[in-house]
Amino acid sequence: MLLRVLGSSAGGGFPQWNCNCPNCTGVRSGSLKALARTQSSIAVSADAQNWLLVNASPDILTQIRQTPQLQPARARRDTGIAAVLLMDAQIDHVTGLLMLREHAGPLPLLATKEVLSDIEDGFPLTRILSHYCGLAAQTIPSDGSRFTVEQLPGLHLEAIALSSKPPPYSPWRNAPRPGDNIGLLMQNPTSGARVFYAPGLGEITEGLLARMAQCDVVLIDGTFWTDDEMQRLGLSAKRAADMGHLAQSGAGGMIEQLDRLPTSTRKILIHINNTNPILVEDSPQRMELARHGIEVAYDGLEISF
Ligand code: MLT
Ligand code: MN
Ligand code: ZN
Repeated sequence: MLLRVLGSSAGGGFPQWNCNCPNCTGVRSGSLKALARTQSSIAVSADAQNWLLVNASPDILTQIRQTPQLQPARARRDTGIAAVLLMDAQIDHVTGLLMLREHAGPLPLLATKEVLSDIEDGFPLTRILSHYCGLAAQTIPSDGSRFTVEQLPGLHLEAIALSSKPPPYSPWRNAPRPGDNIGLLMQNPTSGARVFYAPGLGEITEGLLARMAQCDVVLIDGTFWTDDEMQRLGLSAKRAADMGHLAQSGAGGMIEQLDRLPTSTRKILIHINNTNPILVEDSPQRMELARHGIEVAYDGLEISF
């Protein structure tokens, strides 16, 4: 089983088009040791030909160009994207569906009923796309029960409802429902190897930690270093927690949580906001992560499991 990180940044990307924070300015001018990153998405495949796209980011067309495996060219019109699965209905995870509108026939789409309701209602992608390729939606359970993707036999999946937030446009923003955000457990049934992916995670319960501890790799919410990161930079009044993200530093933060996992579990932060100092490869914060055995995802990172 092969997993490829298509986009490792949070919404806005890195650098963000209108941002002049120290990180965005520094990566633009080349004065910082940091890699630019596209918005939040991964792809998973058993045969490196047919892929499950997990999230359709606004940068999907760039990501497809950067990933030749996603265009196997078996026919005049073709794609390696066999199906799309959504982790939530955030703009950075669903907008790319509009870019896939030339798909031949309804695009297979897997999501929880809560996420499907947001793209039917708050951000009516289902209705808009019905005038193009259309979506062939399949509702997935978010109670941790196993499901498979018809187009990708040989990949076992489990979705776990997480404590986070639905998008700002959602009628449910202030009344989150289980299933608005999921973590995805992917298992290779042959090797037994497991990867857990959760780009938006507000809280790690004991039950979730136990599930994560059974995984070989966790690819987890790396959005913010501090809970008040956006406030300190004068960019937003919102705290990380208000946006459904658990910051890395501080008491009870992501570093402390990941320290509770077995040392054999590979720990990788993903969905990194452009303000986060861990993007700078020689920053003290990045070194602190390294001391805890925590890696930082980048676009193009591949994991075999
Ligand atoms: C989030 O996960 O909070 C997002 O990256 C927000 C966004 O897409 O603007
Ligand atoms: Mn996001
Ligand atoms: Zn910035």
